Amino acid sequence: MKRIGVYTSGGDAPGMNACVRAVVRAGLYNGCEMVGIQHGYEGMIEGKFVDLDARAVANIIQRGGTILRTARSERFRTPEGRVKAAENLKGAGVEGLVAIGGDGTFQGAVRLNEEHGVAIVGVPGTIDNDLFGTDFTIGYDTAVNTAMEAIDKIRDTAASHDRLFYVEVMGRDAGFIALDVGISSGAEFVAIPEAKTNVQALREELEAFKGVKSSAIIIVAEGEEEGGAFSLAEKIKDAAGYDYRVCVLGHIQRGGSPTASDRILASRLGIASVEALLEGQTNVMVGIIHGRITFTPLRTTWTQRKTVDNELWRLSKILSL
Ligand code: F6P
Repeated sequence: MKRIGVYTSGGDAPGMNACVRAVVRAGLYNGCEMVGIQHGYEGMIEGKFVDLDARAVANIIQRGGTILRTARSERFRTPEGRVKAAENLKGAGVEGLVAIGGDGTFQGAVRLNEEHGVAIVGVPGTIDNDLFGTDFTIGYDTAVNTAMEAIDKIRDTAASHDRLFYVEVMGRDAGFIALDVGISSGAEFVAIPEAKTNVQALREELEAFKGVKSSAIIIVAEGEEEGGAFSLAEKIKDAAGYDYRVCVLGHIQRGGSPTASDRILASRLGIASVEALLEGQTNVMVGIIHGRITFTPLRTTWTQRKTVDNELWRLSKILSL
């Protein structure tokens, strides 16, 4: 394999740039030519390809977002879109791909591989940490730290006004961010998509806090089944007579300079993805489990559900006394 393409797709995540840098330099180190595909699958369809040398990825390890840009491509969901993308890859002489993204990115990659025979290795890049086959995804650690720092600030105003705060964090289908943020910010309650939120129990807990705690923080994952922070707050608004506010942290969690952990994870996975491609692997995601590089069939990364750690759930209950 002489020419390798790299792209980022779906929601951006801090550390994607560190990964692009690692992929490009690992490819060059092994004598390959490296091609950046801009705007994910949209750019693949439109032929937005740029040659990348070692200097093209200088000074990006610390930057959030993705220098390659990203997109959620509707056209790539159609067979015609994928035919066009495959033709463009062939025309540009791209023989293998590194796909950095989440489950949507990998679903597209599997189709491209199965329909057009393109060799693809996936790298988990999403703040949600919801991919089976890796302990952590690129961007997750930074997102948790960003949310934690925001909640530290919210706690100051919550305490000053004796208020409840419902803070919504990202996580469409998964409560990884919510649970870790809950523990690291000392939240009183965490609501996640994986567990039914017991509105009555939450109400009773808040009643029990009366006279003990003048304020409290409730973390709500956006995919939580009561409908998110506004909806949950509405259902228990008069609990224990607390005044309350709702704060949706939103896309702030996707930005910012990646933490050291995310930069190291991105660098390790980026190099491993290129080495895997050169060894002839395809249709797999490279991940890290218990500190070691692992490979998981791309399809398994989303068909098998990665579960939140119930132990963390138990700890969060103890810590909120
Ligand atoms: O998949 C990452 C993620 O940040 C989810 O947590 C969130 O639901 C979604 O992306 C938001 O996507 P968009 O930026 O397209 O609105």
